[in-house]
Amino acid sequence: MTDVVKQVVIHELIEDELTLEDKELLKAAKEATYRSYAPYSHFSVGAALRLDNGQIITGSNQENCAYPSGLCAERTAVFNANANYPNNAVVSLCIAARDTRGNFTELPITPCGSCRQVLVETEHRYQKPIRIILYGTKGLYIIDSAQDMLPVSFNASYLE
Ligand code: THU
Repeated sequence: MTDVVKQVVIHELIEDELTLEDKELLKAAKEATYRSYAPYSHFSVGAALRLDNGQIITGSNQENCAYPSGLCAERTAVFNANANYPNNAVVSLCIAARDTRGNFTELPITPCGSCRQVLVETEHRYQKPIRIILYGTKGLYIIDSAQDMLPVSFNASYLE
């Protein structure tokens, strides 16, 4: 038997260390939380992504009384971008969330499994890694690609 170890590098940083471009993306992600529709969880998530032409596209979680019919902020943003700008790669994605009291979370929140799968698909589609920026008031994480967050994933190469 051979053991294969897959590691993920999480860059921990504070807001001041972000580039101007990333600060702008973070601002958009935070603003997007206020457009969330979360009457059931009262947990408002905002996502802002940057396209390879510099444009920012946002999304927020949209819940439904039939719970599984709702959608996370990340997929709302990615599908919005892919549907309207199919020829532009997604290069970075920032996520921020406000808790049930309306405060931004102290720790960064991370995308759910389904969102990771969609993000990996988007990386494959455009043949470009997506830098993931996760916001918390006490600090941020940056992960170099969605693939890093979903090792051993099912991917399109299995269908070839
Ligand atoms: N949610 C997101 O939008 N993104 C995440 O990364 C985690 C969870 C949403 C789904 C649901 O509307 C609410 O947060 C509580 O799970």
